[in-house]
Amino acid sequence: MPHRIHPSILNANLASLDDEIRRIPSADGIHLDVMDNHFVPNLTIGLPVVESIRANHPDRFLDVHLMITDADRYAPGYAEIGCESVTFHLEASAAPIRTARTIRGLGAKASLGLRPQTPIEPLADIITEFDMVLIMTVDPGFGGQSFLTEMLPKIRRTREIVERSGADIWIQVDGGVSESTIDQCLDAGATVFVAGSAVFRAEDPDAVVRGLRERPEV
Ligand code: DX5
Ligand code: ZN
Repeated sequence: MPHRIHPSILNANLASLDDEIRRIPSADGIHLDVMDNHFVPNLTIGLPVVESIRANHPDRFLDVHLMITDADRYAPGYAEIGCESVTFHLEASAAPIRTARTIRGLGAKASLGLRPQTPIEPLADIITEFDMVLIMTVDPGFGGQSFLTEMLPKIRRTREIVERSGADIWIQVDGGVSESTIDQCLDAGATVFVAGSAVFRAEDPDAVVRGLRERPEV
């Protein structure tokens, strides 16, 4: 599939989210970072705000990234309000298979997030429970950090596991993705790219989105 660009609104103006989302018409999805000050040392938005974004932007693909504890309890709520994709973290879940099945049962894509230090290998046997794997390429919590090139082998190994499974599972990279790091991720096999500061710190955010999408497929 052609790769997808899902800008993160974390570094946008969070008090003008509607306008910020309208600045990126070319984006394939809107990546919404939900943080709870427990799983990560930062606090952003939660269910009521995501629900309002849903109402105001009914045609956008909403890709919610939950960086919250008690994922099993809260993740299904984001599928219930109509997000297309719900990512919860393995490190915050006691029952990732059950939660993924609940999310899928509500009609959303179920996605599993992994911190940089969490290995992919133990997940090989359950990978088909998910529609997407999110590989963090920074420590979660903040935008504007440098891409961890150490994650490239993990992206490759994830691609191998996904291909062996035979399922159509997206591989998302999140953190430090920009025009200077996307090619390495494409080459390693990622298919969905989150870019926050690279998009929203630019004069013309949509031009950055188009530039990231026009990279040659590998
Ligand atoms: C970090 C978030 C990312 C972040 C990406 O914890 O999950 O989505 O906003 O921002 P950049 O692209 O600036 O690293
Ligand atoms: Zn994110």
